[in-house]
Amino acid sequence: MIARIWLLSFVFIIVLAAIDGRKGTRQPRNEAALGFCSWLKDHQLKKCQAHPLRGLAARDGVELALKECRDQFSDRRWNCSGVTIADVFQRERMLKVDSKESSYLHAITAAGVAYQITKGCSLGNWEDCGCDTRQQGRGQKAGEPSWEWGGCSEHYKKGYDYSTDFMDPGKNAEKKSISNQIITHNNEAGRKAIKDNMDKSCKCHGVSGSCTVRVCWRTMPKMAKVASELRRKFENALKVKLNKNKTKLTRLSRGRRGRKRNTNNRRPSPSSLVYAVNSPDFCQADEKYGILGTLGRTCNKTSTGTDGCRMLCCGRGYNTVNRVNDVKCNCTFIWCCHVKCDWCKKEWVEHTCK
Ligand SMILES: *[C@@H]1O[C@H](CO)[C@@H](O)[C@H](O)[C@H]1NC(C)=O
Ligand SMILES: *[C@@H]1O[C@H](CO)[C@@H](O)[C@H](O)[C@H]1NC(C)=O
Ligand SMILES: *[C@@H]1O[C@H](CO)[C@@H](O)[C@H](O)[C@H]1NC(C)=O
Ligand SMILES: *[C@@H]1O[C@H](CO)[C@@H](O)[C@H](O)[C@H]1NC(C)=O
Repeated sequence: MIARIWLLSFVFIIVLAAIDGRKGTRQPRNEAALGFCSWLKDHQLKKCQAHPLRGLAARDGVELALKECRDQFSDRRWNCSGVTIADVFQRERMLKVDSKESSYLHAITAAGVAYQITKGCSLGNWEDCGCDTRQQGRGQKAGEPSWEWGGCSEHYKKGYDYSTDFMDPGKNAEKKSISNQIITHNNEAGRKAIKDNMDKSCKCHGVSGSCTVRVCWRTMPKMAKVASELRRKFENALKVKLNKNKTKLTRLSRGRRGRKRNTNNRRPSPSSLVYAVNSPDFCQADEKYGILGTLGRTCNKTSTGTDGCRMLCCGRGYNTVNRVNDVKCNCTFIWCCHVKCDWCKKEWVEHTCK
């Protein structure tokens, strides 16, 4: 009898704790989401208020995209550091000009939003989307043993559609302006970088490690991979203008090897990044565009590339600092189970731009 009462009260407490836990995590998250929505405008505001948690996921996608951007551009004068999440949603500062850097930002953030929304769907965060169940039965690819489709295939189309709706210039925006056409093109190129790099993950089932049944599901590429693909496209970005009718973008630049291209077909390919305005040199800080300048940047004295002191410091020269740090060294494994290390002094020379 006493045991039963104990059991009942135990269950009761767990139920209470669960209810409390839901309140605790759901409520503030929803409020945070509405708070985020409130500083959006126009069609983004409406979409965000209709689905605040999804808006918050879009914001997380932009945050992830900016982090990857900083990783990709750490070796350049423009290292993506001055760009904020607000700049992206409000198309402010760097994102206001149709430069190469801006084209990268639009592409990577549109991809980030598609990525994060798709992830949310796969995790079952929302009622109206989930895993992609279209692929079923057996699959086979040349040079690979066949497999069974199963698990949760990521429904990349859900994120793609959301990103298109949310990140592209709205229906009421002057759609035909060159800026809006460039943004739409680059956003699409970013989302395409996910689509074109969809992969599959597999798991083996069978007795003791044998692979009698292989089950696979579709996965999106990691954002780091998307970021580096887009970086390649950034290096080959195409300069464009509007055609005579002002309905389409056409390329200005010649083919890369100086060949004369077919003049009838000068549309940039959908996967390329496009821009219209040449970039500044990014040497000096310019708050108006979120440019931080290269003062104080660590540079590589021996490199002749963009991270070399010559390029990075814009000819202003560099300071040399001797740095010392305590690092773990001489680590030994002690049975069982710790690692014991000594502290050693590590010394190196660092160069920073004047
Ligand atoms: C401009 O648009 C009209 C109608 O859409 C079309 O007939 C014409 O060929 C276009 N001209 C050019 C130069 O693209
Ligand atoms: C980017 O540049 C800024 C300004 O020079 C600098 O403060 C920041 O540390 C740099 N970020 C990275 C990741 O190198
Ligand atoms: C500096 O550049 C040289 C030449 O490109 C390279 O070999 C070296 O690894 C770089 N050093 C650092 C710390 O990145
Ligand atoms: C590493 O450990 C060995 C043995 O304990 C010691 O003789 C040596 O000085 C240590 N080296 C450093 C750099 O601490």
